[in-house]
Amino acid sequence: MKFFIDTANLAHIKEAYELGVLDGVTTNPSLMAKEGISGHENVINHYKAICEIVDGDVSAEVIATTFEEMVIEGEALAALHPQIVVKVPMIKDGVRAIKYFTSKGIRTNCTLVFSAGQALLAAKAGATYVSPFIGRLDDVSTDGLTLIEDIRTIYDNYGYETQILAASARHPMHIINCAKIGSDVVTAPLSAIVALLKHPLTDNGLAQFLADYAKAAELEAVK
Ligand code: E4P
Repeated sequence: MKFFIDTANLAHIKEAYELGVLDGVTTNPSLMAKEGISGHENVINHYKAICEIVDGDVSAEVIATTFEEMVIEGEALAALHPQIVVKVPMIKDGVRAIKYFTSKGIRTNCTLVFSAGQALLAAKAGATYVSPFIGRLDDVSTDGLTLIEDIRTIYDNYGYETQILAASARHPMHIINCAKIGSDVVTAPLSAIVALLKHPLTDNGLAQFLADYAKAAELEAVK
């Protein structure tokens, strides 16, 4: 399963990349705003800066909501860097735009997906990635992981090549459960990725190993 980091924070992206497990980055206009990045030129420069840090795919979201404007904006984003994947919302014009981008060889991430029917449309339009938002479904008392299971079944039934990119993952169990289901990718904040590292028995065990090593060395020294 690929790990993407869901942030526009360059320090977090660097930290995840240096860990050696990062396969890509997802951003959205809210994540950009959270980092204080605003205005067309600043946003574009920020995408370029992200592409310079990581090797993998970097999702850059269109702001346009009509087919014609999405095409112009998406083509400009795709031209920024070979790693850019154009993120397009799951709306009628978005589906048309994904179909268009696919025909031009431009890779896409269909975002704001909350149902299996939407995921089916994204796959039929040829999206590279589909982003079901599992955390936001959990927020409204609907099981986000069930949606990942349903999409996995549908895509496997027909051999769709669209990759399931479980988005809006908020904690380590989201990541683990997505891996159990067979999601192709999960995107999560740095905190959730780093939390996978943690186990008290690991910390206790390491402390004991180091203490025993030091004690044995002391005994050796007084021989
Ligand atoms: C996906 O690409 C979105 O950027 C993101 O995962 C949304 O997460 P949130 O629901 O935590 O805002």
